[in-house]
Amino acid sequence: MANSTQIKALIKAYLSDNNVDRFRTLSLQIAAHEAQKGHLSLANEIKKIVDDSKNVTNKVIPFTPDLSDLVLLTTPKGKKCELVISKDLKDKIDRILKEYYNKNKLSKYGLHNRRKLLLVGAPGTGKTMTASVIASELNLPLYTIQMDRLVNKYMGETSQKLRQIFDIIQKQKGIFLFDEFDAIGTERASENDVGEMRRVLNSFLQFIENDSSESLILAATNNISLLDQALFRRFDDILDYQKPTKEQIKLLLENRLSNFRGKFDINSIITTAYGLSHSEITQACMDAIKEVILDDKKKVTKTILKRLLEDRKKAYRN
Ligand SMILES: Nc1ncnc2c1ncn2[C@@H]1O[C@H](COP(=O)(O)OP(=O)(O)OP(=O)(O)O)[C@@H](O)[C@H]1O
Ligand SMILES: [Mg+2]
Repeated sequence: MANSTQIKALIKAYLSDNNVDRFRTLSLQIAAHEAQKGHLSLANEIKKIVDDSKNVTNKVIPFTPDLSDLVLLTTPKGKKCELVISKDLKDKIDRILKEYYNKNKLSKYGLHNRRKLLLVGAPGTGKTMTASVIASELNLPLYTIQMDRLVNKYMGETSQKLRQIFDIIQKQKGIFLFDEFDAIGTERASENDVGEMRRVLNSFLQFIENDSSESLILAATNNISLLDQALFRRFDDILDYQKPTKEQIKLLLENRLSNFRGKFDINSIITTAYGLSHSEITQACMDAIKEVILDDKKKVTKTILKRLLEDRKKAYRN
């Protein structure tokens, strides 16, 4: 059996330090210890558990209960090629990935990979999706921090919560998405600023500035005008999301309809979709596919898609 020092170290690594790497190392030490004592099958079993845990979903820290409603762990999904975005944005994402892959090369020259990113743009244009794609490309877990909940539910202790979150960012390599970021990013001089917001924002600025972890920190907002200028220079890059252009709408429709696309000219429906977000167009396509399946038809026709897109546009105008 493992000795008492090993057991205590194991418990400490998990419960006190949230240190998965250390937990894994200690587990392997115990396996080695057992092997030395001739308990080969136990040693192999421990080693197998550790090896199997190296996939993304298991590579996560246990949250203390008081953070579990603020930080959401999601399984990253989506591929880079599924993102329908401008070339400029694509290039920026490629550069983020490239710098991450080559961070050791950069650090030899005292340089850091860009990893503090501000994602700005209209709702449903791919900010959350980008965080997920980056996490999946880098094979890292994706944590989403609900900023609105942090601010509303924890008034008075927001800075302390932020500190705990940044502690996790330091310990656990991952993609950390601060969603609804404008909840704290509002102009510090705004009328309803009761001091708390200023403190929270200042803490955030300080935490993000001091952060030297290996994690990527992403903040997403659809209201850039609410953001304080002091924030911008803390980020290594600003990614700007726009509603899809006509060309992008075409690509999105082709991607989303895929095998369900009937024999109609996609170009003839682009104007109908113009003005809607990527998310709304995606949903219209999914609704069309569902309708076709439920009616035992094979393909999405122009009439169905047009109706669903127009419905979304109408709802949009109301
Ligand atoms: N640029 C895009 N390319 C392809 N699909 C997209 C794109 N943007 C959005 N989608 C589709 O819409 C869904 C919702 O988008 P997403 O959650 O990324 O939007 P968002 O910008 O984070 O919106 P919000 O500001 O409301 O949080 C995605 O899961 C995806 O299916
Ligand atoms: Mg989002």
